[in-house]
Amino acid sequence: MNSITGKTKICGIIGDPIEHSMSPVMHNAAFQALGLDYVYLPFHVRREELPGAIAGIRALNVVGLNVTIPHKEAVILLLDKLEPLAEKMGAVNTIVNEGGLLTGHNTDAPGFLQALRSKGIDPEGKSILILGAGGASKGISFILAEAGASLVILNRTVTRAEELASQIAQYYHRRPEALTLSEENLARGLDGADILVNTTSVGMVPYVNQTPMPANLLNPNLVVCDIVYNPLETRLLKEAKAAGARTIDGLNMLVWQGALAFEKWTGQKAPFEIMKQAAVKALGYEK
Ligand code: ATR
Repeated sequence: MNSITGKTKICGIIGDPIEHSMSPVMHNAAFQALGLDYVYLPFHVRREELPGAIAGIRALNVVGLNVTIPHKEAVILLLDKLEPLAEKMGAVNTIVNEGGLLTGHNTDAPGFLQALRSKGIDPEGKSILILGAGGASKGISFILAEAGASLVILNRTVTRAEELASQIAQYYHRRPEALTLSEENLARGLDGADILVNTTSVGMVPYVNQTPMPANLLNPNLVVCDIVYNPLETRLLKEAKAAGARTIDGLNMLVWQGALAFEKWTGQKAPFEIMKQAAVKALGYEK
């Protein structure tokens, strides 16, 4: 790591738990690669300590902060400004501190969009099947609706999918179809779909033999994205590749959300490959 001086700028991440976060290794690798006098630290902050932590950010002049579970929504009331996307989503994962003025941003969903675009895929006019209607799905569904895609959202608890569809309809005047996650609806939703996105935790360690989508429904015309990055190649992605589909793994989205936050704090283009390699190494995926 670069040596820390009196001028070193401090960034960090707050969350509970925090030990498994990939952000410190990604950002410190990026600062080092670009020779920037910054350091990135993990802060374990419990729910009841959130106001104190945000006051601390101002008091200690921490210039950039990531926010993770369980603080992404609660932190909003403690900030001075919100950029429009964070406001629409009601979730903040990145804070920029400009002389004590704290602005909340959301780079999670733009990170997903960037992961698609970096592979030459533009969601405009595409039919997209989204599995899941939780926090991750909300960001992804909003950004895809904003980018001009038409969406079908399937969720185990259908009321959550319907609620999300209503929120999207309010902002984008186009209501996604919301259905229960069943084999029949998976087949129906996939019919004519260009892109499939899994935002559920199905297939994550230790349940690596699970998949949200039967393999026989997959086809070579699809782009299949999984937000799960542990394992890097989920059963869904393996079966998608075997079916001839293009795939995008969850680590790409994770690294892009970090890269976009890095650019807000430093004003410099993020070294994406270096950040990805640092995450791959920390996750133990290096060959
Ligand atoms: P996140 O912020 O990661 O999206 P979340 O808000 O808890 O986390 O949402 C998890 C998503 O995974 C939900 O869509 C959840 O479905 P429910 O709303 O019905 O709970 C989905 N999910 C989790 N485990 C699942 C399983 N075994 N089968 C199907 N869906 C599952």
